Amino acid sequence: MGYLPDYRYVVLITGCSSGIGFATSLLLAENGVRVFAGLRQREKIGMLDEEAAKRGIGHLLTPVELNVDSHADIERVVRLVIEREEKAWERGAEPILINNAGFAIIGALEDLSMEAYERQFRTNFFGPVALVKAIVPTMRQLRRGKIIQLSSAFGRLAIPVVSAYASSKFALEGFSESLRYELLRYNIYVSLVEPGPVLSNFVDNLEYAQNHESSLYREQYRKYQDLAEISALVAQSPAEIAHLIWKIIQEKTPRLRYPVGITNLAENLKRVLPETFIDELSRLF
Ligand SMILES: NC(=O)c1ccc[n+]([C@@H]2O[C@H](COP(=O)([O-])OP(=O)(O)OC[C@H]3O[C@@H](n4cnc5c(N)ncnc54)[C@H](OP(=O)(O)O)[C@@H]3O)[C@@H](O)[C@H]2O)c1
Repeated sequence: MGYLPDYRYVVLITGCSSGIGFATSLLLAENGVRVFAGLRQREKIGMLDEEAAKRGIGHLLTPVELNVDSHADIERVVRLVIEREEKAWERGAEPILINNAGFAIIGALEDLSMEAYERQFRTNFFGPVALVKAIVPTMRQLRRGKIIQLSSAFGRLAIPVVSAYASSKFALEGFSESLRYELLRYNIYVSLVEPGPVLSNFVDNLEYAQNHESSLYREQYRKYQDLAEISALVAQSPAEIAHLIWKIIQEKTPRLRYPVGITNLAENLKRVLPETFIDELSRLF
C-alpha cells in the first residue's frame, strides 16, 4: 500500500451485512476511519467490498468474516486487527469496538425452548462479551479505546413476548455499566446506544416461536405486531444511528447511555408513571 496510515481511529464493527452495521461501516470509512467490518456470511462480503470500492473507500474498509457466535472467529479477527494496525497504534490511533450484530426471537415464555433463550444470549450477549474480552487487554496497554454497544429500547423496558430479546439487551446494559466503571481508569469508554425502531432488516430477521399462530398467547403476539407496525411510523434510518455512532467516536468523554428516538419518551414515562398504572397498561398488550 502506497499511503501512510494517518487515521485517528481503528474500528472493528460486527453485523455489517445490512442496517445499522452496513450504514455505519461505510459512513466511518467515508470520514477517514480505518474500518474492519464483520460479516458472518461469506457470500455477503463481496457486496460490502464492492460498495466500498464504488465509494472510493476500499483502502479504508476491510470486510472480515465474523460470526459472533464463534469464539474462534472472534479470536482470529481481533488478532488480525491488532497485528495489522501495529503502526497505527504506535502513531496514537484509538481502537474502537462496536458490538452491533444482533437479532430478536419473539415468543412467549411457554412457547420458547431453553435452546432459543441460549441462542439469543449467544449472539446478543456472549458474542459482545467475548469480543470485549479479546480486545480490552490491547486497549488497556494503549491506555485508550471505546466500546460502543448496540442495545435497544428493549434494553431499558419490556413488553410481553420479547422476554428473550429484552433480557439479552438488559444483560448487555448491566455488563456495559459495570465495565464502564472498571475501565474508565484506563481511559477506555464504554457506551450504550439505545435505538427505538430502526428501518433495517431487523423486522425481516425476527424469529417467531414456531407455534405462535396457534399459541395460547396468540393475542399478545398480535398486539406486539400491531405495536411494531405503529412504531414503524416513527422509525429512524440506519444512517441516523450511524451518525450518532460517529459522533460518539469523536467525543473525548462519551456518555454511558445514548437513548435514541422513542426510547427517551418510553424511559421517561416508565420513570414517572406509578407501577400499578403500568400493570394496568400492560393488559392492553
Ligand atoms: N432495527 C431496530 O428496530 C433496532 C432497534 C433497537 C436496537 N437494534 C439493534 O441494532 C443492531 C443492528 O440491527 P439492525 O437494525 O441493523 O438489523 P439488521 O439489518 O437485521 O442487521 C443485523 C446484523 O447482525 C448480523 N448478525 C446476526 N447474527 C449474527 C451473528 N451471530 N454473527 C454476526 N453477525 C450477525 C446480521 O447478519 P446476517 O445478514 O448474516 O443475518 C446483520 O448484519 C442489533 O443489535 C439490534 O438488536 C435494532
